[in-house]
Amino acid sequence: MRTQIGIVGAGPAGLMLAHLLQLQGIECVVIESRSRKYIEERVRAGLLEQGTVDLLIETGVGKRLQRESLTHQGLELRFNRRGHRINMHELTGGKNVTIYAQQEIIKDLVAARLEAGGRIIFEVSDVTVHGFDNGKPSIRFRENGEARELQCDYIAGCDGFHGVCRPSIPAGVLTEFERVYSFGWLGILAQAPPSSHELVYTYHERGFALLTMRTPQISRLYLQVPNDEDIEQWSDDRIWSELRTRVAAEGNWKLNEGPIFQKGIAPLRSYVVEPMQYGKMFLAGDAAHIVPPTGAKGLNLAVADVRILAQGFVEFYATGKTRHLERYSEICLRRVWKAQRFSWWMTNMLHLFDTDTAFDRRRQLAELDYVTTSRAAMTSFAENYVGLPWDE
Ligand code: FAD
Ligand code: DHB
Repeated sequence: MRTQIGIVGAGPAGLMLAHLLQLQGIECVVIESRSRKYIEERVRAGLLEQGTVDLLIETGVGKRLQRESLTHQGLELRFNRRGHRINMHELTGGKNVTIYAQQEIIKDLVAARLEAGGRIIFEVSDVTVHGFDNGKPSIRFRENGEARELQCDYIAGCDGFHGVCRPSIPAGVLTEFERVYSFGWLGILAQAPPSSHELVYTYHERGFALLTMRTPQISRLYLQVPNDEDIEQWSDDRIWSELRTRVAAEGNWKLNEGPIFQKGIAPLRSYVVEPMQYGKMFLAGDAAHIVPPTGAKGLNLAVADVRILAQGFVEFYATGKTRHLERYSEICLRRVWKAQRFSWWMTNMLHLFDTDTAFDRRRQLAELDYVTTSRAAMTSFAENYVGLPWDE
């Protein structure tokens, strides 16, 4: 088999890259280790920056999003049992954020690709990448147990944090930057209307909690829990009781409860590799960087990376020049590091850390007080939250 771009991974990065290339008449094949059903049901992110939404709409995969998503002009920071609204719309000159689940974007991108006659090979195994340092890239894998080889001009490593592309780059080429946290997020989906119509990020002495949503009938809720926590220790009653305690507010605000139909724990990590390229292989999305979920930048960064990568491939196939491809890593890393800074800052402001002292609690409360009362601080928060302008 031969194609122009071989894409490893059908997550948001791989599928969006395939979509952007398809629109420009550039051939690609996507290979994915999981089944179509699995990737279309995998529960993950849900909050989209304005730029991500605009790109999905402009490129023709935003129709269902426009019908079914929820647009938010603001959010609430809650501490000391009081809520403080940040009006992002007003502070950013009219930008919003949008709730639309990651697996819905996956469904829309898979459908668009298959309708356009593009290839996604699901349920492949034993994936290995070759030749990206000597000019003849190829991807080897098994499809229904049979060995296959896909030759290509370039490989896009869009295979997430635990994929094979990044570890295939020779030792000594990449520099890793990492911070691990001693806690994770327990996330649930519940059949309950959202308790507030915008997101509520809560600071509490028992730990962080976040109220978000998927639809007008379904709530998505998160609790900070220790890293080694066993989900079996969290009965539905315990989850609701902990949420009630952490998000409690003055007045007659009430947490809506309902049957929990999905739960899981995700660890928190900040991670970047530099550069995001080696020879003819480019890393995009979680394959190159991970942010803690506070601020919801992971999915949005994956889309931002492949937008730049697609521009590089378009220039190469139109002119034979690799100027833009050579700058891929540098352009992406500027945005990646700003998103790292923001996610780290929000995580630090809102979570309890093992090493915290009484000083740190007072510092966090002062930070929250500042960010909810100073227009300058609120503006900085809002412009990062809705997404900084695209580079280049
Ligand atoms: P992925 O979505 O991980 O896609 C990679 C794809 O590659 C997967 O489909 C995988 O099956 C496939 N793959 C892996 N290895 C191979 C291989 N060897 N061969 C072929 N295919 C392979 N972000 C937020 O903003 N908010 C959230 O609430 C949030 N929650 C999250 C919860 C969890 C449990 C996780 C893991 C992530 C969460 N994220 C969240 C982060 C966000 O979902 C990711 O940043 C986003 O999925 C990145 O997209 P990606 O395409 O780079 O990687
Ligand atoms: C969601 C997740 C986040 O990490 C966040 O900061 C906001 C929203 C969500 O899943 O809806």
